[in-house]
Amino acid sequence: MTYDAIEHHHIRRLWPADIAAFRRHLKRLDADTRQARFGSPVNDQFLEAYADTAHRLGTLIFGAYYGNEIRASAELRSLEIVGEAMAEAAFTVEKDYQDKGLGSLLMNRIIVAAQNRSISQLHMICLRDNDRMQHLAGKFGARLKIKSGEVTGRIDPTYPTPVSVFEEALDEAHGFMTAVLDWRI
Ligand SMILES: CC(C)(COP(=O)(O)OP(=O)(O)OC[C@H]1O[C@@H](n2cnc3c(N)ncnc32)[C@H](O)[C@@H]1OP(=O)(O)O)[C@@H](O)C(=O)NCCC(=O)NCCS
Repeated sequence: MTYDAIEHHHIRRLWPADIAAFRRHLKRLDADTRQARFGSPVNDQFLEAYADTAHRLGTLIFGAYYGNEIRASAELRSLEIVGEAMAEAAFTVEKDYQDKGLGSLLMNRIIVAAQNRSISQLHMICLRDNDRMQHLAGKFGARLKIKSGEVTGRIDPTYPTPVSVFEEALDEAHGFMTAVLDWRI
């Protein structure tokens, strides 16, 4: 199932109608991926509740769909800090789909989305032993800081440009069309 992990997918923004697929995606995560994503072991009950609150105000989620199933996702959550537009990003790729480039594609989407929302600081947190996430963050220019058991990465997106706005608008238009097609099935 891993051979086509990068080819036959489409990445799009998730809408409330995608919550059931998002919940299935989270509940398929193996123990190591859960620990790496949430920083500690989490059970299905936690993930059910997490998926239900995922679409609260100030959160943008992208999902990589293969057919009707989401296999990877990225969340951009705004952090309410007075005077600075800051956000936190988190990434989740199912085990069989890791190391195939999906995290990089999602990181690119998240950075463009942050740029277009004039977010000046984009933060990501991972466990200290999460070399793959640190490599990914570093590849996109994040400054990494080690804090006890965690590593925080910070990217300062540039200002929105006509190209970045157009890039997101094009992805959104395509994403909306595929979302409508998915729901008709
Ligand atoms: C971390 C994660 C998001 C990365 O997504 P991914 O789809 O696996 O990543 P990609 O395939 O796009 O890129 C992986 C990169 O890490 C590199 N890599 C793989 N294993 C590595 C390791 N042990 N040490 C350092 N780099 C590593 C790959 O070579 C690749 O680098 P390249 O693009 O320069 O060739 C994904 O593996 C994941 O969901 N892990 C579990 C949850 C998690 O850790 N979330 C992050 C906390 S927010």
